[in-house]
Amino acid sequence: MSPFSWGGDRRAPHLERSLPESALRIGAVDFETRAIHAGQEPDPATGAVTVPIYATSTFRQHAVGEHQGYEYSRTGNPTRRALETCLASLEGATSGFAFASGMAAAATVTELLDPGDRVLAVSDVYGGTYRLFTTVLAPKGYRFQTIECDRVESELTDRLDGSTRMLWLESPTNPLLGVVDIARAAEAAHAAGAMVVVDNTFATPYLQRPLELGADLVLHSTTKYLGGHSDVVGGFLATRTPELAERLAFLQNTVGAVAGPFDAWLVLRGLKTLAVRMRQHCANAREVVELLQGHPAVEQVLYPGLADHPGHAIAARQMADFGAMVSFRARSEAAALRIAAQTRVFTLAESLGGVESLIEHPGRMTHASTADSPHPVPGSLVRLSVGLESSRDLVSDLEAALADETR
Ligand SMILES: Cc1ncc(COP(=O)(O)O)c(C=O)c1O
Repeated sequence: MSPFSWGGDRRAPHLERSLPESALRIGAVDFETRAIHAGQEPDPATGAVTVPIYATSTFRQHAVGEHQGYEYSRTGNPTRRALETCLASLEGATSGFAFASGMAAAATVTELLDPGDRVLAVSDVYGGTYRLFTTVLAPKGYRFQTIECDRVESELTDRLDGSTRMLWLESPTNPLLGVVDIARAAEAAHAAGAMVVVDNTFATPYLQRPLELGADLVLHSTTKYLGGHSDVVGGFLATRTPELAERLAFLQNTVGAVAGPFDAWLVLRGLKTLAVRMRQHCANAREVVELLQGHPAVEQVLYPGLADHPGHAIAARQMADFGAMVSFRARSEAAALRIAAQTRVFTLAESLGGVESLIEHPGRMTHASTADSPHPVPGSLVRLSVGLESSRDLVSDLEAALADETR
């Protein structure tokens, strides 16, 4: 059976979305230009160059069924549509769908499954994704299994079987920064009849475009780099497979976990500076990694940009740069907790991808829900989201926090 067939007549052809040709000509205009213009024509009513926040739940109809393309804001809203068009274009997708959170997007993806279906995921998926599968879906008969990142290459084909409906990847993974060869994994999954979902939150489309590597569906927590300013929670799905697009349009409207117009507007604004932000995020991360490497208080640095990282060659091939998420192991859990509480420029907080640098302890914070899993996050792990402050200040802040651990 095709992984894209849902049987019955539950499609909603009237919700099918195709982007205007102009937004899709990826070679025609560059990423930076599409980030600012795709889906964002000046407002036809006023000429406003910025897409307005269409704070309306409903739209007037001239006669029954005669309207200007919008009926009701759950089904479609012009601000949300601008974001969906723009971000789909950046991902090299033909259709995009904006949601109220990354988890709302993830939960909508799981509506593509039926009880009994098997999902295989990389073992250190985001803790919330792990929790969704193990505590909400598994008790209803969905089967969820994991594969360690460093075993994907050697064991993936053997771990896929006829009942595997979905392969769920993150690359780089959260929080261990593992790297998966997306193109090879997609090939193996497709051969086994499974669809491939890639959570591209850590990389963003500026650094990596999973659909071009063969994935079927890309997921984002737009809360992170895409919004970029830690002021909005949102999610996104993108695809270039017509059957999936049709089904997701139906599910987005039917399940209804949509992004509101103001939230959509904030993410759309974030996208305009994504390229310049990502370039600086990556440059700052390199300086932070340089400090951590060889520091006596640091046992191991996890960053795909390091030549000795097991996924370095793959990351260098499938990513434009190595991102700005950096994890490291301190000498002990107690040391990790102390370091996380010591920094002054890095703020101790969950989340990532904003202009401000954050530090956290995944074992007790973002990934606490994996504590009882077969692959709990190591207690000595510290995760950094390297922001856009001066790299000199970031490095001295970490230096000061680590110095206490060497005394
Ligand atoms: C990789 C990844 N995917 C998904 C999510 C969930 O997104 P949200 O918090 O917007 O629901 C997160 C949140 O931290 C994440 O880090």
